[in-house]
Amino acid sequence: MEIVRRVHSMKEIADRARGRGLRIGFVPTMGSLHEGHLTLIRKTDELADVVVVSSFVNPAQFGPGEDFERYPRDPTGDADLCVAEGVDYLFAPDPENLYPPGPRTFVEVEGLSARLEGASRPGHFRGVTTIVSKLLQVVRPHVVTFGAKDAQQAIVVKRMVVDLMFDVEVLVLPTVRDDDGLALSSRNRYLSPEQRTAAQAIPRALEAARQRVTEGGATPEEVVAAARAPIEAQELLQIDYLELVDGETLEPVETLDGEALLVLAVDCGETRLLDNTTVRP
Ligand code: PAF
Repeated sequence: MEIVRRVHSMKEIADRARGRGLRIGFVPTMGSLHEGHLTLIRKTDELADVVVVSSFVNPAQFGPGEDFERYPRDPTGDADLCVAEGVDYLFAPDPENLYPPGPRTFVEVEGLSARLEGASRPGHFRGVTTIVSKLLQVVRPHVVTFGAKDAQQAIVVKRMVVDLMFDVEVLVLPTVRDDDGLALSSRNRYLSPEQRTAAQAIPRALEAARQRVTEGGATPEEVVAAARAPIEAQELLQIDYLELVDGETLEPVETLDGEALLVLAVDCGETRLLDNTTVRP
């Protein structure tokens, strides 16, 4: 495996691969890789001839006072995991190389970026879509994979790819969970044992919502109430938002006559936990 630090080197590699007719698969990450990322890498490997993983903690998607400085970083562990998974290139650029001074161009998906996570973290999705655009330009993949845990991110990126006519297939793979049901996230390592136990209410909340929908005749308000209850029973958890929305527009659903997405963000001390589930009546 080759570790690539510079944008121009990564572009040359992508050009060479494309010139040879090879299919490039790409997994963008902020490093600190866990089983969720490895699942994305394995699937990408099935679909492509050359697998590129990027590892870059993107300052532009963190707001003031957020966890940019303390976000977990493990470059050696990441490289070892990528080697073990047969990744071809680990693109780990220096920030100055990816963000030369004085940028004036940003990518923003209007509307979709402003709701839910975007409402609580203004500018977050502008940071995500700007960096993902840059990475797509540099890595030039045929297929790019994201995890469904960050449902809004996947929806926003898909929309950007359509609107800006990026020539790439976006694949969103199911959330990978720990044995206790908690969705894998690099931020889980911030949790104390007590917080970790409390956080198990989140997968229980998703299950309660699915169950309420399966019983039939539920209104969106009843589904939301069923999901809120297990979380509200935990003193260590604070719901930021918990909504039943349309899986494309992210607008709240008024009736439950088709598939809908239950999305939530919960604060557990300093740690923000995101999760979601699709419900079908
Ligand atoms: O999901 C992430 O890890 C990040 O938001 C991404 C897509 C790598 C952009 O920095």
